[in-house]
Amino acid sequence: MSNPKGIMRLELLHSGKANDVYTTSDPRYLEIEASDRVSAGNGEKKSTIAGKGLANSRISSDIFKYLESYGIPTHYAGNGSTPSSMLVKKADMIELEVICRNKALGSFTKRYPCATNYVLSQPLVEYTYKNDNKDFPQYSDPPIDRKTIVALGIASELEVQFMDFITTRVNELMTDYYATRLQVQLVDFKIEFGRIPSSHGNIVICDEVSPDTCRLIDFSTGESFDKDRFRNSMDDPSMGYRTLLKRLTGEVI
Ligand code: TMP
Repeated sequence: MSNPKGIMRLELLHSGKANDVYTTSDPRYLEIEASDRVSAGNGEKKSTIAGKGLANSRISSDIFKYLESYGIPTHYAGNGSTPSSMLVKKADMIELEVICRNKALGSFTKRYPCATNYVLSQPLVEYTYKNDNKDFPQYSDPPIDRKTIVALGIASELEVQFMDFITTRVNELMTDYYATRLQVQLVDFKIEFGRIPSSHGNIVICDEVSPDTCRLIDFSTGESFDKDRFRNSMDDPSMGYRTLLKRLTGEVI
């Protein structure tokens, strides 16, 4: 199986909660296959949603291409060898989740005494520490401040400033993308960054940017079009993925 660049997909390297990562015949690249698996609450709630992998992969790829066209560095390198996969540059992941919020929802309203949907006076960039260290199971992705990120050697001060800047710019660009192309409001999102070894450790956006990693509200109906439908056990958890894919490409799943 090879992608349009003629790079072959080889072995399964890692199977995550929603995506499978494969090695390729070119050691600089990997393939990410978006699956229909869905999970919430750090894997406590699990299921599958038919067509989710295709929708997420199409949306993620389109957004990566759009961000690149505005000079935002990402790991996107082209289509993968299947309809629900993409070719990406291999990166050393930075163990952070970078969250940007426009309105107060989700974990924010559990931490602060603030009304649901409160419009923040400016977009807020927050960090959590992705903790996969089995020696410290008691720490489940804790919020982390910028000075602690540097003190723990997770990223340098300059890299944190860069991630702050890029995340804020991605918020502006994706807010516009989702509003004009998909007629939904971007409430908040999570992105991850990695360093590209073959490019002097330059930092790029990695992983995915999809309805699994954003909160999206339909402008006309006010309905949730993202993973909150599954998280909050709402009717028809596939509805958002299907509607967004149809609006983007016309495809029906
Ligand atoms: P939160 O309100 O649960 O902190 O989530 C904020 C945003 O980040 C929301 O769009 C969902 C996204 N997110 C992920 O994609 N993965 C995660 O593991 C977490 C905690 C949040």
